[in-house]
Amino acid sequence: MIKFDKVTKKFGSITALSAVSFEIPKNSFVFIVGPSGAGKSTIVHLLLREYLPTSGKIKVSKQDLAKLTKKELVALRRQIGVVFQDFKLLADRTVFENVALPLKFVKNDAEQIGKEVRQVLKLVGLTERAALFPAQLAGGELQRACLARAIVNCPEIVIADEPTGNLDPQTAVQIVDLLKKVNEMGSTVIIATHNAQIVNQFNQRVIALAQGELISDQPESQYPLTK
Ligand SMILES: Nc1ncnc2c1ncn2[C@@H]1O[C@H](COP(=O)(O)OP(=O)(O)O)[C@@H](O)[C@H]1O
Ligand SMILES: [Mg+2]
Repeated sequence: MIKFDKVTKKFGSITALSAVSFEIPKNSFVFIVGPSGAGKSTIVHLLLREYLPTSGKIKVSKQDLAKLTKKELVALRRQIGVVFQDFKLLADRTVFENVALPLKFVKNDAEQIGKEVRQVLKLVGLTERAALFPAQLAGGELQRACLARAIVNCPEIVIADEPTGNLDPQTAVQIVDLLKKVNEMGSTVIIATHNAQIVNQFNQRVIALAQGELISDQPESQYPLTK
């Protein structure tokens, strides 16, 4: 369970988030939407505890993020898989090696790691691309590799920040379909996006932001119409 309680984040004189409150129960699938600059990525950074709120409280699995020890912070980040718009794959490693990386931090049985990586590559449809380097992949394949890396540890929470930003509409739907599948396998999935077409196709909970404020939060919803 994730809880934002009147969270405000300021960067100097810029208010990126203004008293934002919401709760996301375990195993949810949620879109966080809003135009560029609305505060979506700020929520992602706060969840990863890359910085603290200026005021208000954030809880993940009952833990107050402002009170984590270093050890608890490492544990928190391990239970969150992140998918980025620009993929952030290592250019000098193959798809297989990129996806294996998070596992190497937590286990050293090479055979077991290989098995788990092959499983997740199969899930995202990249079995045939395992030995290729990122530069050899198409955009949708890069995003699937990034997704595989995010979920290989079976994290409790998967956060995708504009995961479809660089993809054509059809490929974008495939990525969100995969994220839905990941949700059905048990992870909470949070997708930050300004892509109304995608949001409207999935009819899931939508938390909408505008200029740092939460303007609506509806179950089984569509991208809100704005003036
Ligand atoms: N590190 C930062 N320093 C200063 N301003 C920032 C920083 N990060 C975000 N902002 C500002 O906060 C606002 C919200 O940004 P962001 O969360 O990235 O929006 P979104 O992801 O919805 O496009 C923007 O006005 C942005 O310029
Ligand atoms: Mg953003």
